[in-house]
Amino acid sequence: MDKYLIKNGHLIDPANNIDSKMDILISGGKVLEVSGNTSGNSASATGAKIIDASGKYIMPGFVDLHVHLREPGFEYKETIMTGAQAAAKGGVTTICPMPNTNPVIDSPAMVMHLRERAKDAPVHILPIGAITCGQDGVDITDIAGMKEAGAVAISEDGKSVLNSWLFRQALHEAAEAGMPVFSHCEDTSLLDGGVMNYGAKSEELGLPGIINAAEDVIVARDILLAKEAGCRLHLCHCSTADSVRLTEMAKKQGLSVTAEACPHHFTMSDDEITEDDGRFKMNPPLRSRADVNALKDGLKEGIIDIISTDHAPHGAEEKAQSMLKAPFGIVGLETSFAISYTVLVRGGYLTLSQLISKMSVNPAKVIGIDKGNLAPGKAADLVIADINTEYEIDSSTFVSKGKNTPFNGMKVYGRVEKTFTDGKIVYDLYS
Ligand code: DOR
Ligand code: ZN
Ligand code: ZN
Repeated sequence: MDKYLIKNGHLIDPANNIDSKMDILISGGKVLEVSGNTSGNSASATGAKIIDASGKYIMPGFVDLHVHLREPGFEYKETIMTGAQAAAKGGVTTICPMPNTNPVIDSPAMVMHLRERAKDAPVHILPIGAITCGQDGVDITDIAGMKEAGAVAISEDGKSVLNSWLFRQALHEAAEAGMPVFSHCEDTSLLDGGVMNYGAKSEELGLPGIINAAEDVIVARDILLAKEAGCRLHLCHCSTADSVRLTEMAKKQGLSVTAEACPHHFTMSDDEITEDDGRFKMNPPLRSRADVNALKDGLKEGIIDIISTDHAPHGAEEKAQSMLKAPFGIVGLETSFAISYTVLVRGGYLTLSQLISKMSVNPAKVIGIDKGNLAPGKAADLVIADINTEYEIDSSTFVSKGKNTPFNGMKVYGRVEKTFTDGKIVYDLYS
């Protein structure tokens, strides 16, 4: 097992209140020592490979609660392996794949099968099980059994469970099993064939729009039903100002509700959609500048606890179509840290430590895993990044099969240079 001494870097470890120059010694897959001055002299560092991290930042590996690997069923879009490699390149050492594959991950056997397929992946893969069998909105899955098999949450992502009575029943069963429920909030009866945000831009482009309320009414419903069921609720990809306000209200009531935002939703507004281009299409859609600002304020105020990507790879041809035809979704694993760092930290909304809390510490807490912590004895899942050199996002360099991003060419700071999972280098910019 490799042993590394990472020297002279700046350690950001919010779980242990560390934001300073530290050396970190890793061995046997774990953090062995963290010290303010050179542990190179300590006996335990004998034989370690030295990594000089001068000028670089060391952070716990990111935990992404919301990704789409397309295996089984849509391997031309992404496989478990290519998705995991994209995660490693983005500094993400734990990913939770959504169950909307074909077949759907909707049983203990499917959860175990996915975990088996993922066991040699370069990052940790913790599956999310479906809420209803086949995501057909009729029969509730074996929630306790899927938990037993290793699922960390349940979700119907891609859609909501529209039957409120059935969803209530699922929340009660999830509460009983101690399983968090991840909600994709969307009332499809309010969609009206929409493919982008409803507003001046959709009018200008002559495309059908999706109103904010399509999201907000389900956010409100799910909060109220989770309150009644006493269930842990996590709101996926919040995109509207009212989602933020409703989450704030839930938190003020002391409910066990968390909320995530994705980099695209707090970075780009529908104003920036230049043409009818499938790369700008995702669900929920890019909203108004007022919504974008509300999300950034919500992140700053701690109402939004988590940043996840909703990494949704699709084939190049599928996305090179009008928004009327292209599937919903953009990739995110390889750009989430850079975009979030550039927009939120350099933009003055968060400190780097607060950003790492939202990308690592808080998501780990939602699913109750011992990650996002670099204290001695913890798993050596960590990232070394350069935050001072500007570069351009270039989708042709993505290792994900999906190149579908509206951020190609964006100038950003925050480049992951090395990623370690359980003390092993799983990504190295320089090799
Ligand atoms: O944009 C999206 N893409 N939103 C979803 O809810 C599903 C996802 C996908 O699976 O492609
Ligand atoms: Zn979704
Ligand atoms: Zn999703």
